[in-house]
Amino acid sequence: MAKCEFKSLPDAKLQRQRNTSFSFSYDEINISETLSNYAKGKTYYIHTYGCQANYRDEEIISGILTKAGFIKANDENADIIILNTCAVRENAEDKVFGKIGELKAIKAKNKNAIIAICGCMVQQIHIINKILDIYKHVDLIFGTHNITDLPKLLDEIILKRNKIVDVKSQPSLIEENLPSTRLSSFKAFVNISYGCDKFCTYCIVPYTRGKERSRKMEDILNECRELKEAGYQEVTLLGQNVNAYGKDFKDGTTFAKLLEEVAKLNIPRIRFLTSHPWDFKEEMIDVIAKYDNIMKYIHLPVQSGSSEILKLMGRRYTSDQYKQLVTLIRSKIKDVYLSTDIIVGFPNETEEQFQETLEMVKFAQYDSAFTFIYSPRNNTPAAKMVDNVTREEKSSRFKRLVAELEKSVSASSMAMVGKTFKVLVEGASEKDSSMLSGYTEGNKLVHFKGDLSLVGKIVDVKIIVSHTYSLIGELINA
Ligand code: 5AD
Ligand code: SF4
Repeated sequence: MAKCEFKSLPDAKLQRQRNTSFSFSYDEINISETLSNYAKGKTYYIHTYGCQANYRDEEIISGILTKAGFIKANDENADIIILNTCAVRENAEDKVFGKIGELKAIKAKNKNAIIAICGCMVQQIHIINKILDIYKHVDLIFGTHNITDLPKLLDEIILKRNKIVDVKSQPSLIEENLPSTRLSSFKAFVNISYGCDKFCTYCIVPYTRGKERSRKMEDILNECRELKEAGYQEVTLLGQNVNAYGKDFKDGTTFAKLLEEVAKLNIPRIRFLTSHPWDFKEEMIDVIAKYDNIMKYIHLPVQSGSSEILKLMGRRYTSDQYKQLVTLIRSKIKDVYLSTDIIVGFPNETEEQFQETLEMVKFAQYDSAFTFIYSPRNNTPAAKMVDNVTREEKSSRFKRLVAELEKSVSASSMAMVGKTFKVLVEGASEKDSSMLSGYTEGNKLVHFKGDLSLVGKIVDVKIIVSHTYSLIGELINA
């Protein structure tokens, strides 16, 4: 069996620290002759799980491998197979373990295939140990902070045929000028900041993605300008907590200022993800209201409607403060669409506290929502709390929550019937290839008949039928 070289391993204590420093790098990625010779005629396959930050990482990994000379494959029958993983809940991790197991057959067919696991899951030492113990066919494990080490790590594996684990605890660089193969030619994700310093007590992200750090505004604007020149119709500004953007510069830079500068570039659609209710400033609301090309869609995770649970979650706002924010947003931004994330079954959540969440859903009248059952994450404070809520109770609350949310989500879709909306066409509908699918400015999914030549364009669609989670429309004047 191949020897395993441990270059670095993640340590939760170091991951918790926020006094580490980082610098900016504008260096180009180096590809060795060994790697470019090896890549000739070879393919790579990458499968990404989880959030938009991971999909953006996939684009960078693809960019690096393309620069080395590998060609993208559509399935696992490739020379390099990479799973880019998510750790936010246990069911996400279970899916990945299932997939790693399946890859054993690929390795049996092609002994020279290189199987690599990266992303948030492997930022946890117990996951690395499990992979090394059970899944002997894995060759390389690298983390979220050293994606750009990939060429060097592959060089070593090619030359020595050893296994490598290289997972850093904290980031040391913000790297610009990275190669990138974008997943879409008309909508793009642009990172504005990395990491998170909020440490909500249930969440693994501050450990797996490290200290919160902002990209320089000029670098973000340059990337957006290039996308606009390349004809991109939609840019989504990405950060675990976009409203914390610029705080680390300590020079008065705010997300509102960045958003305004991006809006002035005249990209047709600008979105941003994710907003934390705690530092969502009125200045931001005013910028969103002022520019037509900033989409009137705000994803504002509430997590719980109970102030007591919010306190235990470390969310820094009360139920009343969240409601005041919703009222302010709805009063200042005409026809705004609001979405949220909600967790049920946080440790010791009482029926009364859950009722407060239902009450919040009634109050906020969300246009869409993502719902989760609390999943304990290793090393987080919530995972150490003794929990007296049974699985059955959690699942009953989840069902009741979904039923309550469906009321406002359906009502919001119903109110769209008979009206015309701008839709960015994504492609053929997954369920019915004779239909096209796309999203409205408010992020509602619409299916309608039309020609594939419309993909990547913004068209007018009149809504004729509403389902809870999607709409049927007809094209106007195409
Ligand atoms: N259990 C369940 N849901 C979680 N989320 C984050 N951590 C957990 C967890 N441990 C949810 C939150 C967050 C979304 C991305 O995932 O609602 O906003
Ligand atoms: Fe996790 Fe809270 Fe940071 Fe969001 S703000 S990534 S929920 S710690």
